Amino acid sequence: MTPPTGPGLVLPHGFLMGASTSAHQVEGNNVSSDWWALENRPDSFVTERSGDAADSFHRWPEDMDLLSDLGFNAYRFGIEWARIEPERGHVSRAAVEHYRAMVRGALERGLTPVVTLHHFTSPRWFSALGGWTSPESADLFAAYAQVAAEVLGAGVHHVVTINEPNMIALMHTVLRDAARRSDRGSGPAGGGSHTGAAAADIGALEPDAEVTWALIRAHRAAFDILKAADPALRIGWTVANQVYHAEPGAEEAAAAYAGPREDVFLEAAREDDWIGVQAYTRHRIGPGGPLPVPPDAATTLTGWEVYPEALGEAVRHTAAVVGPHVPILVTENGIATDDDDLRIAYTTGALASLAAAMRDGVDVRGYLHWSALDNYEWGSYRPTFGLIAVDPHSFARRPKESARWLGSLARSGCLPDDPGRPAAASADVSRAG
Ligand code: BGC
Repeated sequence: MTPPTGPGLVLPHGFLMGASTSAHQVEGNNVSSDWWALENRPDSFVTERSGDAADSFHRWPEDMDLLSDLGFNAYRFGIEWARIEPERGHVSRAAVEHYRAMVRGALERGLTPVVTLHHFTSPRWFSALGGWTSPESADLFAAYAQVAAEVLGAGVHHVVTINEPNMIALMHTVLRDAARRSDRGSGPAGGGSHTGAAAADIGALEPDAEVTWALIRAHRAAFDILKAADPALRIGWTVANQVYHAEPGAEEAAAAYAGPREDVFLEAAREDDWIGVQAYTRHRIGPGGPLPVPPDAATTLTGWEVYPEALGEAVRHTAAVVGPHVPILVTENGIATDDDDLRIAYTTGALASLAAAMRDGVDVRGYLHWSALDNYEWGSYRPTFGLIAVDPHSFARRPKESARWLGSLARSGCLPDDPGRPAAASADVSRAG
């Protein structure tokens, strides 16, 4: 399926077009991490273990070859704190060298590395201390950032300190409630992950305020350490943009709902070098709180409404809250589906909404699709977000049609416009980057 792309929006020079992964979701055998411990507990509520994942710990050169051959110029990947510092204060030189080789490997293939230091997983020892609720958490994270600076020194410019702190603060509440239920002997909590079955209940939960502020402190501490190590680093964090839609009369309720769940994390990025936008769908808010997905709406394998325009709305909201002086990178956007035609159609719509926001002046510097590979979706391999399929036994990679389509779009240097947009207005060139 080749959707209409029209003349499209000509991308600014240096615009990043690529795909994203995270360490735990693709590497496999992340045995020193808290998530591995959680997955492998006998009473775990996590239904499926990550196991070997996509074995990208060993197969990253093949992943990068594919992305570069497809036409992309950027790859966002994670480095894993639990591998770099498997015990408190003990740095694995081999892990540092492993990630330095990945950075060099990306650069050799013409892929700009966008490197995430923390993507949901922490070392077991950090969680045992209380994780983000430990009074030492910001210092411990900053010490890790100091070591990570050695990896970044291999040629990285774009660094993410913490992925989706708003989801971490929410997951803290989910895990705390699950632990309380299991202490009371009422059995394991229902659900699987922030994206899995537990998602149905998440709307009703409050993010943990203590964790929120601990994450903001950790981000600021890591920012300072990394800047001191290399003033040329471009440092930011990424926020899960929920694209809240207020029902008529629920504007105030929606703003109050968004505050602790999203906007506080965007406001904390006002001094950053850039901000990462991650958007998949929208969430409707009524006067009494979040509303379910309408029964007639098309949904994805994660149960989310298929709503491509979420991306354009998310970058507009982010720019409005953070301010126009902080450039935006789209660090995640995609769809969990077995239907690759739907992936192309969704992404076409998402990119058209992004192009429209850019034409209106939102300063977007890149688009990184989630995900490069089908991977471990925090409790299940069933939701397939990948541009590239992975055989779970042989680990053979197979680029889907969507990968070739998005790669050729990257080569073209244009984003599709909304097919309804008047052709005459499509020819203007965006500002130079
Ligand atoms: C996370 C990813 C996740 C994706 C799809 C984001 O919340 O950063 O780890 O796989 O969404 O659920």
